[in-house]
Amino acid sequence: MQGPRRKMKVMVMMTMVFIFIVVEVSRNAGKGDRNKNKQLVPTKRFWAKDLPSDAYWNRLQQQLNYINNRNLEKLNFTTDKLPDWLNDTVRLDSCEPDFRVTTQVKDYNSLPDRFKDFLLSMRCRSYPIVVDQQNMCKDPPFLLLGIKSLVPHFDRRQAIRESWGKAGRLANKTVVTVFLLGKAASEDHFPDLSKMLHHESSIHKDILQWDYRDTFFNLTIKEVLFLEWLSTRCPGVSYIFKGDDDVFVNTVRIIDFLSNLSHAKAKELFVGDVITNAGPHRDKKVKYFIPESVFVGSYPAYAGGGGYLFSGQLVQKLHNISRLVPLYPIDDVYTGMCLKKLGLAPKKHKGFKTFDIEEKYRNNACAYNSLMLVHPRSPQHMIKIWAWLNDPALNYSSWRSKGADTAREGEKEDNVSASGPGLT
Ligand SMILES: *[C@@H]1O[C@H](CO)[C@@H](O)[C@H](O)[C@H]1NC(C)=O
Ligand SMILES: *[C@@H]1O[C@H](CO)[C@@H](O)[C@H](O)[C@H]1NC(C)=O
Ligand SMILES: *[C@@H]1O[C@H](CO)[C@@H](O)[C@H](O)[C@H]1NC(C)=O
Ligand SMILES: *[C@@H]1O[C@H](CO)[C@@H](O)[C@H](O)[C@H]1NC(C)=O
Ligand SMILES: *[C@@H]1O[C@H](CO)[C@@H](O)[C@H](O)[C@H]1NC(C)=O
Ligand SMILES: *[C@@H]1O[C@H](CO)[C@@H](O)[C@H](O)[C@H]1NC(C)=O
Ligand SMILES: *[C@@H]1O[C@H](CO)[C@@H](O)[C@H](O)[C@H]1NC(C)=O
Ligand SMILES: *[C@@H]1O[C@H](CO)[C@@H](O)[C@H](O)[C@H]1NC(C)=O
Repeated sequence: MQGPRRKMKVMVMMTMVFIFIVVEVSRNAGKGDRNKNKQLVPTKRFWAKDLPSDAYWNRLQQQLNYINNRNLEKLNFTTDKLPDWLNDTVRLDSCEPDFRVTTQVKDYNSLPDRFKDFLLSMRCRSYPIVVDQQNMCKDPPFLLLGIKSLVPHFDRRQAIRESWGKAGRLANKTVVTVFLLGKAASEDHFPDLSKMLHHESSIHKDILQWDYRDTFFNLTIKEVLFLEWLSTRCPGVSYIFKGDDDVFVNTVRIIDFLSNLSHAKAKELFVGDVITNAGPHRDKKVKYFIPESVFVGSYPAYAGGGGYLFSGQLVQKLHNISRLVPLYPIDDVYTGMCLKKLGLAPKKHKGFKTFDIEEKYRNNACAYNSLMLVHPRSPQHMIKIWAWLNDPALNYSSWRSKGADTAREGEKEDNVSASGPGLT
């Protein structure tokens, strides 16, 4: 007797709950309709408050937010008494080594040297340019290739010049190539190659070099300095490719893709091999290791640093916003952070193969025809693949009709411009 009655009671209650939910949802939906064209402004704070972070990078970001907002409400802090470090008296763009980090980062002494070096100088964003090309963009190019290189990589640069990075006119568009370099510092045990570099630069006039130690963690400095250079020396450029000197880029394919973009998509274009849902590696043995004392949280969507493509109209925006984001030791993640602060996100394109293509296709000339980028490739490979692509005897349309061409798939439904809340 008890069993069925209880079941009945439960069912009645569940039905009531269900009806209540339906009524609530439709009430809210109704509200939404009525206010469709009105901006809803919350009258009270609706978010949970944060605590001042223990991680050094996160603290610097909170500090930057504070300095730029002077608005405590926006900091989301629960404490009434603000921590001393928030209202820092040292300028955030100071180029003096900041020795306070030795005590502010709790495990500073046990960190690998590259972290110590990074932390000491991470406030500094401006280094003198020692080799410049002032007239590179006198006639604003359609596409500028900015290639991250290191002083000793003479052969890579030369292979790029002879293949996919050949400056001039390509597919009826202007292409300009620049190599981005720091210093091969003697403290990193590099031999003195400055005379050879000087010679190379005088022949090709495509070298940009700044006076800082060119290390993995300083690639973010390279990014910021490149954005600064673009905004002062090349403000009229339509599109920029930025990538490594060990990739093959199908420049013709990229120009073809860019030429067909609609005006709206072209404006905030940022495409590459986009990595989402990533976070810092906590394993000390990994190249990308980041300790918890330096950064906590997850990474925003970012385009892998092997190579990505973006619109000239984003240059100034990215450069401006970068001042409000503390330097992060991994350059592509940093660019993702800057995009996120702009309310944008990079878009994935299948043509960017930063993790290479299947082995069976690597020596197949046709496989490269529809790709935009493939990583890694040696200087010899770059020259070989470029020759294939320019061989009139090779019939790419026959390959395409066999259905082996997958790299174009992304473009049909393509949504290539960076997008985000409030900007789509
Ligand atoms: C405050 O916190 C909310 C939710 O946690 C978050 O969405 C918002 O971006 C935070 N505001 C700032 C200025 O950090
Ligand atoms: C922050 O520092 C400035 C200059 O030192 C000072 O005028 C201001 O009162 C400080 N603000 C807070 C909240 O401590
Ligand atoms: C090449 O570009 C010029 C100027 O942008 C244009 O006038 C011309 O029609 C183009 N030629 C071809 C073959 O597309
Ligand atoms: C970055 O470059 C600066 C300037 O040369 C140098 O002081 C610093 O040690 C470098 N940082 C890293 C992590 O190599
Ligand atoms: C771009 O447009 C041209 C001419 O309409 C076409 O031949 C080419 O296949 C297009 N490229 C892409 C990537 O859609
Ligand atoms: C960038 O900042 C400069 C100087 O503060 C300002 O003049 C310019 O309008 C800003 N540009 C963009 C696109 O935000
Ligand atoms: C290329 O291949 C396609 C499809 O197999 C064929 O229709 C076309 O005639 C070929 N073109 C040349 C130049 O061989
Ligand atoms: C492109 O992206 C926007 C915003 O992210 C989205 O609203 C739109 O539906 C997308 N279009 C296609 C064709 O995927």
